[in-house]
Amino acid sequence: MPLRGRAAPPGDKSISHRALLLGTLAVGETVIDGLLESDDVMGTAAALRALGAGISREETKSGEPQSPDIRYRVNGVGLGGLHEPSKVLHMGNSGTGARLLMGVLATHPVTSVLAGDSSLNERPMARVTEPLRRMGAEIQARDGERLPATVRGAAEPVPIAHTLAVASAQVKSALLLAGLNAPGQTSVTEPMPSRDHTERMLRHFGVTVDVEQEKGGVQTVTLTGYPEISAAQVSVPGDPSSAAFPAVAAVIVPGSEVVLEGVCVNPLRMGLYETLGEMGADIAIENQRDSCGEPVADIVVRAAEGGLRGIEVPPGRASYMIDEYPVLAVAAAFAKGTTVLRGLAELRVKESDRLAAMARGLAACSITVKEGKDMLTIEGQGGKTPPAGGATIDAGLDHRIAMAFLVFGMAAKNPVTIGEGDVIATSFPGFSGLMNGLGTAITETEETS
Ligand code: S3P
Repeated sequence: MPLRGRAAPPGDKSISHRALLLGTLAVGETVIDGLLESDDVMGTAAALRALGAGISREETKSGEPQSPDIRYRVNGVGLGGLHEPSKVLHMGNSGTGARLLMGVLATHPVTSVLAGDSSLNERPMARVTEPLRRMGAEIQARDGERLPATVRGAAEPVPIAHTLAVASAQVKSALLLAGLNAPGQTSVTEPMPSRDHTERMLRHFGVTVDVEQEKGGVQTVTLTGYPEISAAQVSVPGDPSSAAFPAVAAVIVPGSEVVLEGVCVNPLRMGLYETLGEMGADIAIENQRDSCGEPVADIVVRAAEGGLRGIEVPPGRASYMIDEYPVLAVAAAFAKGTTVLRGLAELRVKESDRLAAMARGLAACSITVKEGKDMLTIEGQGGKTPPAGGATIDAGLDHRIAMAFLVFGMAAKNPVTIGEGDVIATSFPGFSGLMNGLGTAITETEETS
């Protein structure tokens, strides 16, 4: 069945984490509308409460989950004002929550213990723990620099200049947040720009952040410690990474046309939409406006007339659509010809080994795939009979793998089943409701043991 209609995807996950963190470090009351109420973000809110922030929730009108009528108020402790938590900070599934909070904690003289679920506890933390130790934090992590970890924040932090081997907004943000409570200049150089929500949000809270661009995409982001952080009003735009699922569904299900309203169209998040356009999809960005320093727009997606075509996606695009590869791989399975995705090494250390999970899942749905060390080749079935689908996919603790394969089932001959549907609430609570409102038929069944 074609997808038709309008829908507002839930608040952006990256921006939601940052609004809560900066609201906590500001003095006074920060008001946040449209905060993503997903498990990941709620985990960060709970951790910040344990560190002394006053965070309350209000329903201003209809009370529909995820409507902009939900308002959060954050009463900040001010920079340097975090309380020592009396319990373990459970960061759930969230790499962003854990790494960004570790940055904040590294330069506050309190001791805390961070832990995650079984997925997060396997993810590499050295990328943040090593530079944060250089800033003076004492961090004791489990073998292989994994969570759980104890962070004893520096009483006398030192600023650093750090160069990243791989562009990462999480690492850049952790160091910039640590640099807020250190004297002098903290700077991070990345080989190419990663998402810049931290820089934009810092400016929105009155903090000066300098960005120096060099040749070939290299850039250095610098801030000076002990700035005044002014409490702010934040309106969180829709998440382009969540919008990606109805967008790809609309592109591959013939006859579809959907409008995804109020989505963040920050250029550093637009890789998927650009790539779908190159594959022949009909995507328009309309009604562009600004919200708290982020560009926001409605994204109009129509099924690709004549179908999608396979392409070679350049490795340089990885940082602009890092979280969208699972659903891009699904689009590629429905394209005519071969799609080659390169530069995907980071996908191996996300909520799961996404490269392996995509290869396994696509093969289970009768798609021919070749998995390389950091690449995936997908033989699209476009123009032939639709792929069989029909598989049951074990998404483990990976929300995006779960949603990507549900999208596969929407255009396949037979529906796809996901074992652990609950995991979707990590980033996209209300996923089934939003998709079914556009015409899909996702059914949820309780498992009886
Ligand atoms: C995020 C950055 C990305 C992304 C993650 C959210 C962020 O990670 O995969 O889902 O909010 O900073 P890396 O920048 O570490 O690749």
